[in-house]
Amino acid sequence: MFVKQLMAISGIFFVLFVIVHAYGNLKMFFGQEAYDRYAEWLKGDAFYPLLPEGGLIVIFRIAMILLAVLHIASAFYTWNVSRKARADRYTVKKNVTDAYAARTMRVSAVILLFLITFHILHFTTATIPAGFEASEMSPYMRMIGAFSNPALVVLYAVFVGTVALHIGHGTWSALQSMGWLRRNTQNVMVVISGIVAAIVFVMFMAPPIGIAVGMIS
Ligand code: HEM
Repeated sequence: MFVKQLMAISGIFFVLFVIVHAYGNLKMFFGQEAYDRYAEWLKGDAFYPLLPEGGLIVIFRIAMILLAVLHIASAFYTWNVSRKARADRYTVKKNVTDAYAARTMRVSAVILLFLITFHILHFTTATIPAGFEASEMSPYMRMIGAFSNPALVVLYAVFVGTVALHIGHGTWSALQSMGWLRRNTQNVMVVISGIVAAIVFVMFMAPPIGIAVGMIS
């Protein structure tokens, strides 16, 4: 079904974003200058003169909004179709693992919508004054300020854990939607999905934990 492929493709773009974002955050281990220069580059002359000054962030935000609309709309569509199919008693019952995965995806998706909103209000707009106050503070100092608070390290572990769970199940069902799951490759694919999820979790949590234990200061 075309809609499922749409969900899979928009999901793959999100996975790529999440990996690049987590990788970029690792610059925290290279010191204030390296991280602040990276943050400034992203918001300023990234790919200049191919893109205008500050062009990358504008394109990125438009793309993220479009992808989110596609991803959520196709999720609602497939959910509705499978709900109708369940209501029809002549439909062959799907197996229990599928039902479990679908429920995990729905629950984690709702939690993620809340946590992503929190994340943007926290770091991008600094509307939630957690750990830092002034918007003129350097990006490096904002990270240090935020994760000097252990409660925020725990909250972000929950956030990133939920992302990892969603990506783990999501990668698996995307492979299935694209028709790339075969009986003989199924186990390998489950392992690959798990590895992707684990890498995302470890990469994201390294800087907050580094700050919490005083490795980054
Ligand atoms: C420990 C985990 C994470 C840390 C420390 C972190 C940190 C940051 C920081 C410092 C920014 C830049 C804010 C700014 O100066 O404008 C940012 C932006 C962003 N983060 Fe994260 N992030 C984390 C996890 C995530 C995850 C898991 C997602 C998505 C699932 C995500 C989505 C975003 C988005 C969409 C933006 C861009 C907002 C904008 O348009 O400016 N982040 N993050």
